[in-house]
Amino acid sequence: MKRRGRPPGLHRSNRLDSLRRRALYALLAILVGSGAVWLCVHWRRADDALPSPLEPWMMKLHGGAAMMTIYLAGTMLYGHMLGAWRRRHNRGTGAVAAATLLLLASSGYGLYYFGGATLRQATEWLHWVLGFAVPLLLWWHVSRGRRLMWRYAHGE
Ligand code: HEM
Ligand code: HEM
Repeated sequence: MKRRGRPPGLHRSNRLDSLRRRALYALLAILVGSGAVWLCVHWRRADDALPSPLEPWMMKLHGGAAMMTIYLAGTMLYGHMLGAWRRRHNRGTGAVAAATLLLLASSGYGLYYFGGATLRQATEWLHWVLGFAVPLLLWWHVSRGRRLMWRYAHGE
């Protein structure tokens, strides 16, 4: 018997292939790692000291990983995000994950181009807070998505 209120298309999954899933986790690890090292070195440096050579290297790594992450997220738009959205699977946490990536990319743009002390400071804080929140938000999204799909597959 058909249960009421169950989302359509339950037999279809929006799992990512393992290459993209692993690439995403590796890129996020590089982003968080390079961001954290940059912050540590930057904050421990005295105001009048020369920048450590680690700082520009961390940002080169970070910027490269950021571009690849945006590209990877783009490849997930149709199959994963819009596909699951249409089937009403895991919409809430998916929207939070997508919005967080969008805000990270926008604040990253701001770190390159925004001027003015207050705007710059606000952009930096937004970027750091969201950056460190990303692993937690993604874990929430993935674990909830997998739980939901398991329940649907087992008819609960
Ligand atoms: C509207 C946006 C989104 C929706 C509706 C959505 C939906 C889902 C669903 C339903 C699952 C469970 C798939 C399954 O086990 O069959 C899932 C898993 C997952 N999602 Fe999303 N998602 C969205 C955005 C995102 C974003 C922006 C990311 C990261 C860039 C992401 C990364 C993942 C990953 C890594 C998994 C685990 C995949 C796996 O187990 O193979 N999702 N998502
Ligand atoms: C898709 C995700 C991300 C994008 C597009 C992105 C983009 C950027 C960009 C463009 C910059 C400026 C680079 C430069 O000045 O040379 C930057 C800096 C930075 N990012 Fe990210 N980033 C992302 C994720 C993260 C994550 C996950 C963290 C985790 C901590 C993070 C922490 C930082 C830090 C600490 C800086 C240096 C900030 C500053 O100049 O004040 N970012 N990011």
